[in-house]
Amino acid sequence: MKRVDDFRLKFGNKEYVPIMIGGMGVDISTAELALEAARLGGIGHISDAMVNDVSDRRFDTSFVKDKTKFYKHNIDNSDKSIIKFDLEVLADATRRHVAATMQAKQGDGLIFVNCMEKLTMNGPRETLQVRMASALDAGIDGITLSAGLHLGSFGLIADHPRFRDAKLGIIVSSVRALQLFLRKNARLNRLPDYVIVEGPLAGGHLGFGMDWAQYDLATICAEVVEYIKTEKLDIPVIAAGGIFTGTDAVKFLEMGCGGVQVATRFTVAKECGLPEKVQQEYFRASEEDIVVNTLSPTGYPMRMLKSTPAIGAGIRPNCEAYGYLLDGNGGCAYITAYNAEVAIHPDLKTLSVKEKTCLCTHMRNFNCWTCGHYTYRLKDTTHKLADGRYQLLTAEHIFKDYQFSTDNQVALPEMQE
Ligand SMILES: Cc1cc2nc3c(=O)[nH]c(=O)nc-3n(C[C@H](O)[C@H](O)[C@H](O)COP(=O)(O)O)c2cc1C
Repeated sequence: MKRVDDFRLKFGNKEYVPIMIGGMGVDISTAELALEAARLGGIGHISDAMVNDVSDRRFDTSFVKDKTKFYKHNIDNSDKSIIKFDLEVLADATRRHVAATMQAKQGDGLIFVNCMEKLTMNGPRETLQVRMASALDAGIDGITLSAGLHLGSFGLIADHPRFRDAKLGIIVSSVRALQLFLRKNARLNRLPDYVIVEGPLAGGHLGFGMDWAQYDLATICAEVVEYIKTEKLDIPVIAAGGIFTGTDAVKFLEMGCGGVQVATRFTVAKECGLPEKVQQEYFRASEEDIVVNTLSPTGYPMRMLKSTPAIGAGIRPNCEAYGYLLDGNGGCAYITAYNAEVAIHPDLKTLSVKEKTCLCTHMRNFNCWTCGHYTYRLKDTTHKLADGRYQLLTAEHIFKDYQFSTDNQVALPEMQE
């Protein structure tokens, strides 16, 4: 019986353990987590979601405070169109986050940055360009474009000196999305170095509608692998979403995928950015506690725990501080939903907005508990402690369990004293 370790992910003549830890914003996939994957010979992702805030926490900068102060006069205004991101600051924050991570890198693996295009930041083109270019400046090994993939994104960095040397990848949920992307990019003569196929059981946003349950990762991967073969392309396909054991991963590697991207199992790692209180919620979850809903202002369905504090919260939009989802004209579906609620209850002090959630603020405060479908199996990957909590795992333990396990086994960690 094969193990993940019997396979290698190949980029040119370099080989890696075919395990990627997926990007999890906002700083859930921390540098520490990504660095472990790289040290162990695989690939880790940091995320550039709300990078100004991440920089403030990591490097004691005051980017968010400064921006809030600058736009303070607009806080009571329901029109957010004047709020812009200072591109110099954005570049600075990105460079700090990436450079510090790359400096700490050990081992033979790689560090990529997950770049969600739905973070349109009231200036979709210029902010995305700055995010990608500054990550390249700071030495990132690769960029994974996700959530809201635009067909022209590679073109935004075509004149960067590292355009052809850094790895560039995309996340798609159908063979059609890949075909469109490749067609649009043909003129750049620059193929993606990898394609992540994310199925409907993933955490975070889903690249499907609310009919997500009708789709299946293995079928989509088979279509993508077949298409790439027919077109005689040399692009590794990375399967993602619901791959919970090494045995699950082997199934995809045997069908021709070059690697797997996994995330949910790492949400309960010590190196993960979620506070331990939230990690215990993930451990305790049962299948009925997990829901896919349309609360995200991005328009994509999102999977989360039903006990997520963000559900039904009615806080004032906080775009003066954040504003990462502003669409370029000052719009965000949460602002619309919030304003509608204010119009109905003008005198109410505490509102409840049911339709959408203020994703920036809640993700930033770890109050939006997004998770993968198999979160309810996390409790089977560790020990329950005498006080009722579950024992956290190390990223190394989880990574090696994927790499070496067979027979759908999940190795338990050594019991904590
Ligand atoms: C807590 C959490 C946050 C996530 N955030 C992001 C994100 O910011 N960007 C993204 O492209 N994918 C995100 N994802 C998706 C993962 O990167 C990954 O592709 C997927 O969850 C893999 O499936 P699995 O969780 O079943 O292993 C997130 C997943 C989780 C569990």
